[in-house]
Amino acid sequence: MTLIDGKKVAADIRAELAVRTKSLEEKYRKKVGLAVVLIGDNPASQVYVRNKIKACEEVGIRSFSHYLPAETTQKQAEELILSLVADKNVHGILIQLPLPKHLDEKRLLALIPKAKDVDGFSAENIGSLAMNEEGTVACTPLGVMELLKRYHIDTKGKRAVVVGRSNIVGRPMALLLINADATVTVCHSKTENLKEECLRADILVAAIGKAKYITADMVKDGAAVIDVGMNRDEDGKLCGDVDFESVKGKAAYLTPVPGGVGPMTIAMLLCNVCDAFERAER
Ligand code: GUN
Repeated sequence: MTLIDGKKVAADIRAELAVRTKSLEEKYRKKVGLAVVLIGDNPASQVYVRNKIKACEEVGIRSFSHYLPAETTQKQAEELILSLVADKNVHGILIQLPLPKHLDEKRLLALIPKAKDVDGFSAENIGSLAMNEEGTVACTPLGVMELLKRYHIDTKGKRAVVVGRSNIVGRPMALLLINADATVTVCHSKTENLKEECLRADILVAAIGKAKYITADMVKDGAAVIDVGMNRDEDGKLCGDVDFESVKGKAAYLTPVPGGVGPMTIAMLLCNVCDAFERAER
């Protein structure tokens, strides 16, 4: 079994990006900039945002962080987003999700124009992906595709099964795999015979949100198994949606948690910001 080292691949990508931002800065006499908006005090979000800002620094992207209290009103949040939309130094805007319940997430995200939507969450970017046209793609599924590419895991004509249909991972993941010529099945909580569906997968992407849900009996011999989950097990230890210990005996390729898909999400975000800069400045 080949262990897919997302931590290493992400570090390679950041090193490539550091070179890219330097040459962009020389060419356009301007720094690539990302605005990060965090509203409220969700502890997981605080960690994610801290890591995103740290990664920006590492590759030479200027970050503008905006931390707003949980009581922020819809109007205050909208005013901030609109100011970032107008700001020429900001090439990408990221609103960390989830937002406090009283805020209208859809309305806030809709204020971000396609060109600055580095998360790929906008209807326009999702439409572009659905039509296999140029646009920005959500960072986590994009990170999965990059791992498949860098480990030379062929998708053309292969059976891919995506377990999970979220807007952030499952749906864009399925579209990316279709665009990469895979034969794609999307499974979810209402799927009948989930085990049989999973057993057909040459490439199995688990994005369910349930600790160690995918077990060896659900995996075809020699499959590539990509674990997008981020859960805590009964001992409070970080684990994925895949039961790593049992599946490692079946899969040909497997991503660990942590150190698999997770680090790729931030690396792809940084790529998306550089792409947004180039589209805006060229
Ligand atoms: N919350 C969990 N994942 C993500 C992500 O990829 N982007 C944003 N903005 N929020 C998230």
